[in-house]
Amino acid sequence: MLSSSLIAVAFAGAATAFTPVGFEPASTNNLTVAFGNTLAINGVNLPKAEVQTAPTVGTTEKLVGTYTLMMVDPDIPPATAGGATSELLHWMQSDLVSANTTTTIGGMKVFELINPTNTTAFASYIGPAPPNKSPTTHRYTQLLLNTTGSSSALTSLKAAGVSRANFSAVNVVKNAGLSVLFGNSFNVSAATNTTAGAASGTNGTTTASGTAKASGTAAKASTSTAVRTTSVAGATVTAAAGNSTTASPAQSTGGVAGRTSGNEAIFAGLGAIAAAVIIL
Ligand SMILES: *[C@@H]1O[C@H](CO)[C@@H](O)[C@H](O)[C@H]1NC(C)=O
Ligand SMILES: *[C@@H]1O[C@H](CO)[C@@H](O)[C@H](O)[C@H]1NC(C)=O
Ligand SMILES: *[C@@H]1O[C@H](CO)[C@@H](O)[C@H](O)[C@H]1NC(C)=O
Ligand SMILES: *[C@@H]1O[C@H](CO)[C@@H](O)[C@H](O)[C@H]1NC(C)=O
Ligand SMILES: *[C@@H]1O[C@H](CO)[C@@H](O)[C@H](O)[C@H]1NC(C)=O
Ligand SMILES: *[C@@H]1O[C@H](CO)[C@@H](O)[C@H](O)[C@H]1NC(C)=O
Ligand SMILES: *[C@@H]1O[C@H](CO)[C@@H](O)[C@H](O)[C@H]1NC(C)=O
Ligand SMILES: *[C@@H]1O[C@H](CO)[C@@H](O)[C@H](O)[C@H]1NC(C)=O
Ligand SMILES: *[C@@H]1O[C@H](CO)[C@@H](O)[C@H](O)[C@H]1NC(C)=O
Repeated sequence: MLSSSLIAVAFAGAATAFTPVGFEPASTNNLTVAFGNTLAINGVNLPKAEVQTAPTVGTTEKLVGTYTLMMVDPDIPPATAGGATSELLHWMQSDLVSANTTTTIGGMKVFELINPTNTTAFASYIGPAPPNKSPTTHRYTQLLLNTTGSSSALTSLKAAGVSRANFSAVNVVKNAGLSVLFGNSFNVSAATNTTAGAASGTNGTTTASGTAKASGTAAKASTSTAVRTTSVAGATVTAAAGNSTTASPAQSTGGVAGRTSGNEAIFAGLGAIAAAVIIL
């Protein structure tokens, strides 16, 4: 349960929006998100190569109950210039619970949200890969929903997780009869280069090349030196990675299982829009 003091502090700090300004559904309660030991909070801009394996997620207070995490990108460029941006579902994972002990990530002590029952994601994690097409900076937004004992909400979320493109977090949350408890976002820009120099095209139509993406991820894994200290007993879950995503040790020991998807899953998940262009 959230203490009233946490809520008071959160609202006192409401000048910072923890979901992006204007994004709905909004939350001003901080969800801590990190890739390895790198914090991904307050809209920080991260290199694409650092964010291809699902992050660790936690809260400063231990939560009672079970939760569902949603990650969306509300900045998908319109198909035709001048059109409206749309939303893409990047990840939806249910059955998360607070670990019993804290983990220190990037200097922040949090109770990691873990998936001790290894429940399969409603939508497996797809790493950010914004194309070089306006808007080139995308705000990857995480929402934590309280789905404790609510099978109807879970049924509704699971059904919604089937379609990633033209997603509507605000409608999906509302239709599930839920509200957002914690939120966060981080940025990834098309301009951000990857060490492999491979995946991103430079003129708007990034070819969907699984090989290029895989090499970027591998380069990241081999150069990662992130160190995470953890006091969570029994929370180590080996990433269910496709063989194209060789996660570093730091990234493969988070608690959220089913976190990694191979490129095959990415393309399958994207369905029709994967045909020629990645618009993540
Ligand atoms: C989530 O819902 C459960 C059941 O209603 C409740 O016990 C728990 O306190 C809620 N969590 C938060 C953080 O409000
Ligand atoms: C949430 O994060 C912001 C920015 O880091 C910080 O100023 C604020 O104190 C945090 N709020 C809580 C409740 O931890
Ligand atoms: C993240 O990107 C958005 C959209 O471009 C921008 O408004 C925001 O300032 C960025 N956040 C940071 C911390 O730079
Ligand atoms: C936390 O401890 C309680 C009591 O020992 C146990 O029932 C529960 O499964 C533990 N939770 C996790 C996530 O390990
Ligand atoms: C979840 O997966 C981990 C790692 O594969 C395994 O050690 C653990 O026993 C599994 N837990 C359950 C409840 O299946
Ligand atoms: C996206 O969904 C909205 C309704 O939420 C619908 O009006 C619109 O036509 C859809 N766009 C596409 C490209 O499917
Ligand atoms: C990214 O880095 C690679 C290798 O250093 C370089 O060839 C490429 O031009 C860079 N791309 C951008 C968009 O800066
Ligand atoms: C842009 O795309 C065209 C074909 O679509 C290609 O010929 C050209 O080399 C690309 N330019 C850059 C800078 O990648
Ligand atoms: C990776 O997958 C490909 C095709 O699915 C397979 O040919 C290759 O042997 C696999 N590599 C490893 C290291 O498992």
